[in-house]
Amino acid sequence: MIALGCDHGGFELKQEIIKHLEGKNIAYKDCGTYTEESCDYPVYARKVTDAVLSKECELGILICGTGIGISIAANKVKGIRAALCHDCFSAEATRSHNDANILAMGARVIGPGHALKVVDTFLETPFSQDERHIRRINLIED
Ligand code: RB5
Repeated sequence: MIALGCDHGGFELKQEIIKHLEGKNIAYKDCGTYTEESCDYPVYARKVTDAVLSKECELGILICGTGIGISIAANKVKGIRAALCHDCFSAEATRSHNDANILAMGARVIGPGHALKVVDTFLETPFSQDERHIRRINLIED
């Protein structure tokens, strides 16, 4: 299951991602926000990090206007590796090398068509399990 969260700036793109996941029969948990009314992105970052850390969801996707605030908030939580990606190369590399467990995007930065490709790349790329990458991730966690 994939956890989804956003603020008002990311609401429209989150809805696009939901349609996309439904079309691919991928289960998701919509952690909000549920309207375009102005709200605080750290609240939704925390809902998604909770869903990932509890293992209710394997991966998460967070969206705000830039993707910056919501990724900063998520990365404050121990065990979370949130990667801000607006291209498929980065999305693939961060899964393969960093075992990123959350994809962050900025809805005001990337168009929806490209964003869905980034989502697919992130969700379809496994962690490499390479010893050097495990070592580096463990150094971040310490
Ligand atoms: C909200 O206006 C905006 O600040 C937020 O979506 C995000 O871009 C913060 O980093």
